[in-house]
Amino acid sequence: MHIVTQKKPEVVIAESDRAIARMGAAEIANLIQMRNAADLPTVLGLATGKTPILLYREFIRIAREKALDFSRVITFNLDEYYPMNTHSPQSYHHFMRANLFDHIDIHPAHIHIPDGTLSRKDIANYCAEYEEKIQQAGGINLQLLGIGENGHIGFNEPGSDVDTRTRLVTLDPITRQNAAAEFGGETNTPSEAITMGIATILEAQRIILIASGSKKAHAVQQAINGPVNANVPATYLRSHSNVTIYLDPAAAKHIKSA
Ligand code: PGA
Repeated sequence: MHIVTQKKPEVVIAESDRAIARMGAAEIANLIQMRNAADLPTVLGLATGKTPILLYREFIRIAREKALDFSRVITFNLDEYYPMNTHSPQSYHHFMRANLFDHIDIHPAHIHIPDGTLSRKDIANYCAEYEEKIQQAGGINLQLLGIGENGHIGFNEPGSDVDTRTRLVTLDPITRQNAAAEFGGETNTPSEAITMGIATILEAQRIILIASGSKKAHAVQQAINGPVNANVPATYLRSHSNVTIYLDPAAAKHIKSA
């Protein structure tokens, strides 16, 4: 492991995507253990996509090994496609069951994932309630993030401002192209999604972003060194005082060592 900088944000370059997964998973497991010991709930903000799969696998392993108690763990996922059936294999509801929730002993009522089955007229109220539920749970203790090739976090696409909240968004063409294979082509890929906003994400006490592979190298470089603005929403993470970005060497190839 090689720490590049401890300035905001902290950047950790590890030897592989597995090493990133191990570090991220260990941090989440430790947080749950510490908070359980203090008799406190743990509120996690969770991400989907290819990158967190390894982290969740590692996390499940650690959870079993440590017999982690999930009775006080509450989760809020970042996003879901719209419209999207909860049982569709492309849904993030399905993803989360398959990659995490079916393998840990979490209370179903403690799981929150944006609902892609709502009628359009109900979305605004639903999103406001999603924000309220996060507040009622005590706020997010740790938010896990990936990053899109276009610098998105959650489905906060380029153009998403720092003050955005949970809402319905239009997906960026790059995001749809990247998702097309899973939907059997771009024409079948949803054009909208419900996502937590940048402001929602920045309210988390602690944020960890994981990225691997050279396709992410440009977005990562922009996030860390580029000008802070809505063109690369991940740049807003630099206004948060407790962020760590975990990278493999390919994703870190444009990052200069401090
Ligand atoms: P990926 O997605 O892990 O599938 O690359 C990350 C993201 O878009 O946030």
